[in-house]
Amino acid sequence: MDAVVIDGKALAAKVKEEVREKAARLTQKPGLAVIIVGDNPASRVYVNGKKKDCEECGFYSEEHALPEYASQQELLALIEGLNGREDIDGILVQLPLPKQFDERAVLRAIRPDKDVDCFHPFNVGKLMIGEEGFLPCTPAGVMRMLREYGVDVSGKHCVVVGRSNIVGKPQAILMLRENATVTICHSRTPNLAEECRTADILVAAVGKVGLITADMVKQGAVVIDVAMNRNEQGKLCGDVCYAEVASKASHITPVPGGVGPMTRAMLMENTLYAAQSHGK
Ligand code: GUN
Repeated sequence: MDAVVIDGKALAAKVKEEVREKAARLTQKPGLAVIIVGDNPASRVYVNGKKKDCEECGFYSEEHALPEYASQQELLALIEGLNGREDIDGILVQLPLPKQFDERAVLRAIRPDKDVDCFHPFNVGKLMIGEEGFLPCTPAGVMRMLREYGVDVSGKHCVVVGRSNIVGKPQAILMLRENATVTICHSRTPNLAEECRTADILVAAVGKVGLITADMVKQGAVVIDVAMNRNEQGKLCGDVCYAEVASKASHITPVPGGVGPMTRAMLMENTLYAAQSHGK
């Protein structure tokens, strides 16, 4: 039997509608500043999407586009200015930054109460010890999808493939927080297929076309594909061999139309949360 397809696009629309209703009840619009440096075409697509999301949610948004050759000082000065502005609740620096930037220093410069990406060490620390605060957008989107489709994480074995700071690590923490037993796999894991086969819930977040094949998936497992790759034909695809895995999984997320739209919706939730925490 074919898996239930988790419709991230439809769920994201529902989340954004909820955010819009809540934002309309605030005394002032939530405000998001998005910073893009250089002309990475993928980053441009993401930033345009975020702008559209803000419009849909009734937020104020502004974009700051710096040239490819901008300096660290310029970027830090821009962030400093946004940190001090009352109308801006969230600041997002689109990654990756061009090579001359010290990404860690840039992310630390964002005031933690405006860090809607949840990349600042202060917020990552709070996440780690289970304190309330921002949640990282992609992992939070995955958790929301699981909840909405009635997949209980508690007591399950979750295998996360990938250990990035943006997805793999925080994904594992959120699953642990909901009482899963979690395994994190990565490029040095000796027997990836064997580890994956033990998963009740498998999250692929590597960025490698065709990485997860049907023989790596347990019958009836839930398969979440976080990756956003281009295949040889230039088509968007994830890490999971979709058709063959869909005939074995109980639930599966498509690429595109799965995790991606949910990541953006969670950014809107975080921006709303920031506005609320600023007393709006
Ligand atoms: N680049 C790829 N994913 C992300 C993300 O979630 N946030 C930011 N700021 N940049 C990204």
